[in-house]
Amino acid sequence: MSNDTLQHLLDNNRRWSAAKTAQDTDFFRRLARQQKPQYLWIGCADSRVPANEIIGLDPGEVFVHRNVGNLVEHTDMNCLSVIQYAVEVLQVQHVIVCGHYGCGAVQAALSDEDHGLIDNWLRKIQEVYRTHREEVDARQGSQRLDYMCELNIAAQVANVCRTTVVQNAWRRGQKLCVHGWVYSLKDGLLHNIGLSIDSPEQLPC
Ligand code: CO
Repeated sequence: MSNDTLQHLLDNNRRWSAAKTAQDTDFFRRLARQQKPQYLWIGCADSRVPANEIIGLDPGEVFVHRNVGNLVEHTDMNCLSVIQYAVEVLQVQHVIVCGHYGCGAVQAALSDEDHGLIDNWLRKIQEVYRTHREEVDARQGSQRLDYMCELNIAAQVANVCRTTVVQNAWRRGQKLCVHGWVYSLKDGLLHNIGLSIDSPEQLPC
């Protein structure tokens, strides 16, 4: 086995494809015809938070967008295009913004160190911190970081809700709920942070 050619990954893939087909002979043929996921997942790029795997869904069952810090920026054409496609074409009924405790992006945003280019991306997390500085700084160590992770998720849920795509969907009467979840790296469990917004009236200010 040569690591140079990544042959081990290609071998894994062949075994995976064969196992899927053995379970369900029509699996790939059916998926190749169309995708009909009911959920859009917006999560952190962290390798320890693989969307499909932690919610037990197969290929075809969740539309996924991941970036560093699970941010939803109103100038990010990539993320906005994903939301538009998911809401308008796939007609998903649920958008899940999933962050995680111990998020390196949130940690980096809280530190004064220079991380290079990525600091521009993390600036939005710093804005969340500045808005809630007192409550955040009232906490220590990992509790401070974890609380910031939750606040960041709440901010991104609000950002999803404020996109023209979601606003227009609600105006049309389309059923769409935006949820905020946080994942714990320590035990693999997801927690609902009590945020599920399905109408503009539910948006906090
Ligand atoms: Co992260």
